[in-house]
Amino acid sequence: MASTIDPSVGKRTLRCAVIFLGPPGAGKGTQARRVSQVYGVPHLSTGDMLRDHISRQTELGRQAKPLMDRGALVPDELMLGMVDDRLSQPDCANGFVFDGFPRTLPQARDLDVILQRRGLGDPIVIHFAVDYEGLIRRLTGRRTCSIGGEIYNVYDHPPKVEGKCDQDGGELIQRHDDQPEVIRGRIEAYDRQTKPLVEYYAGRRVLRTVDASADMDLVTQAVMDILSAAALGK
Ligand code: AP5
Repeated sequence: MASTIDPSVGKRTLRCAVIFLGPPGAGKGTQARRVSQVYGVPHLSTGDMLRDHISRQTELGRQAKPLMDRGALVPDELMLGMVDDRLSQPDCANGFVFDGFPRTLPQARDLDVILQRRGLGDPIVIHFAVDYEGLIRRLTGRRTCSIGGEIYNVYDHPPKVEGKCDQDGGELIQRHDDQPEVIRGRIEAYDRQTKPLVEYYAGRRVLRTVDASADMDLVTQAVMDILSAAALGK
C-alpha cells in the first residue's frame, strides 16, 4: 500500500485518504470522528456537507433535499464538484477520513484520479460489515449535537442529560432521514449502488474489513489497528 502513516503514540500522522464504506448506521460517522481526533485530519462527511448546503439554502442544497428526503443518492457530478472543492482546502493536504464517499463506481473512479493528482496515492478503505437487523434501531435512536456534531443513541449511547450534548450542552437533534421508511430506501440504495465498491476496492487490494456489529470501542480498536498496521506496510 502506498500510504504513509506514522503511528507514534499521541502524535500520529496520516498522509493518505481513509475511506469508510458501509451501510447507513454502520457507525462510519462515530468512528470517523474518533480517527479525526487521534490523527488530527479532517472528517469529511458528504452527508454533513449536503445538510449544510440545505440549511444555507444553496442551489446544491435545493437539488439534494428531495433526493435525501427519500433516501436516494445525489447525482455523481454534484458530489464530485463538492468533494473536489473541499479537498482543495489546505487542511486536507495531509490526509482525511471520508465518511459516505465514494458511494458509486463513477465516484470511486473519479476519486482515484483526484487522489493521484493530489499526490495522495492509494486510499485505505475500511469496510464496516454489519448485521442489518440492528440498523433501524441504531438510526431511529440516533441524536446528533447541533453544535459539535457528537453522535448519541437514545437506546444504547444516551447523553447524561436528555436532549443535551455531554460535551458542549448543544441541543440534540434527530435527522429528517432517520424515519423507518426513509431508512429502508437508504439501505436499498446502499445495496444497489454502493455495495459493489467492496469488490472494486478488494480487487485493488486496499480493502480491510471490521466487524461493525461489535461494541463501539472494539470497532475503534479494530480501525486503529488497521491504520497502525498500514503504517508498517502489513
Ligand atoms: P450520510 O449522512 O452519509 O448517511 P449514511 O451513509 O446513511 O450514514 P449514516 O450517517 O446514517 O450512518 P453512520 O454509518 O455514519 O452511523 P453513525 O456513526 O451515525 O448520507 C445521507 C444522505 O446524503 C444519503 O442518503 C444521500 O442522499 C446523500 N449522500 C451523502 N453522500 C453521498 C454520496 N457520496 N453520493 C450521493 N449521495 C450522497 O451511527 C448511527 C447510530 O448508531 C448512532 O446513534 C450511534 O451512536 C450508533 N452506533 C454507532 N456505532 C455503534 C456500535 N458499534 N454499536 C452500537 N451502536 C452504534
